[in-house]
Amino acid sequence: MKAKKGIDDIAIGGRRVLLRVDFNVPMEGGRIVDDRRIRAAVPTIEALRERGGRVVVVTHFGRPRGRVDDALRVAPLARRLGELLDIVVPVAGDSGGDGSLAMVESLCQGDVCMLENIRFDPEEETNGERLVGRLAAIGDVYVNDAFGAAHRAHASTEGVAHRLPAVAGRLMQRELEMLGGVLEAPRRPLVAIVGGAKISSKLGVVRNLLSRVDTLWLGGAMACTFYRALGEETGTSLVEPDQIDTAVSLLEEARGAGADLRLPVDMVVTTTPQPGAPSEVVAWKAIPPDMAAVDVGPDTVRQMAESCASAGTVVWNGPLGIYEIEDFARGTRGVAEALAESSATSVVGGGDLAAALDSIGVADRITHVSTGGGATLEFLEGRVLPGVAALLDRDS
Ligand code: 3PG
Repeated sequence: MKAKKGIDDIAIGGRRVLLRVDFNVPMEGGRIVDDRRIRAAVPTIEALRERGGRVVVVTHFGRPRGRVDDALRVAPLARRLGELLDIVVPVAGDSGGDGSLAMVESLCQGDVCMLENIRFDPEEETNGERLVGRLAAIGDVYVNDAFGAAHRAHASTEGVAHRLPAVAGRLMQRELEMLGGVLEAPRRPLVAIVGGAKISSKLGVVRNLLSRVDTLWLGGAMACTFYRALGEETGTSLVEPDQIDTAVSLLEEARGAGADLRLPVDMVVTTTPQPGAPSEVVAWKAIPPDMAAVDVGPDTVRQMAESCASAGTVVWNGPLGIYEIEDFARGTRGVAEALAESSATSVVGGGDLAAALDSIGVADRITHVSTGGGATLEFLEGRVLPGVAALLDRDS
């Protein structure tokens, strides 16, 4: 992938900077429960302010499907951003209409405002000409720091990038550098760990990584679909019956390519996947008929930890068990701690696992925790992200 121009490659002073961020953060009862995505955009915003930009922050929040939804207004996001920047960040009452134009025109150098949830406009998701034109009219330059939304070809992530000089923000550049480094020039050995419940959602990632890695570990409930592909019983574990053939062909592909594809050697099993339920550890071929696998076992954790310890680079996507339940989070926790201890370049993507690493308290010892969910998966699948493709190449 070609390197993209960044904010240091264009003039900012006095200009209106349309800055797309991904502040789509989890919220409960009107309170932000995880502000990592907001914090991650602060270095870009600070840099734009220091250089005299007039910054117009644009984000989506939730999926309002083109309608105004009071529960999805951006006011709490603007408030949190204001706290982090130690300024007031006003919100324009409309996303790209006359109200926003007036607010943007009133900005002085270093000021920041935010548009209302861009997905209130039906043309955001359709990448409509009217909204693209309106957004282009309120910016002189476009900066995309919304890696988490870069897999969407929407008006504010892709369309407007063709109308203004368009560059990557600092977060976007870091994501591209770290995730791109895994695919293009990893320090070896390269170890991948892919967890999660469903093989169907990780198929593209497993396929793309298989030919690049030295070792690929599978974990989480999806390992059970592979056990079935190997002819073993998996009790009441979550299995995707329609993916068993796919698992068979992946195992064959791996064998044909001489790839080191590894499955958990032991599993934590329980009759009831609930907090406090009794559980035991069994070998992978011995899951009892009335029990479900809910975490990887200690031998697996030890072997994964050894892989991390001798790796040059580790990329990890998806938890290894039902990490929301303390008793079934030990696998994810053990591997996270081993990864934090290792000297490998560690790249962890996104969503659930990022939150888990934060709660385990090791996130700051991981080289890069991606802010993307779906975007990180698509990137690791080797797909072109429209929001990235639309930015100016560094050598252009
Ligand atoms: C995310 O949370 O992964 C991004 O903000 C994208 O959100 P979306 O899946 O609603 O497009």
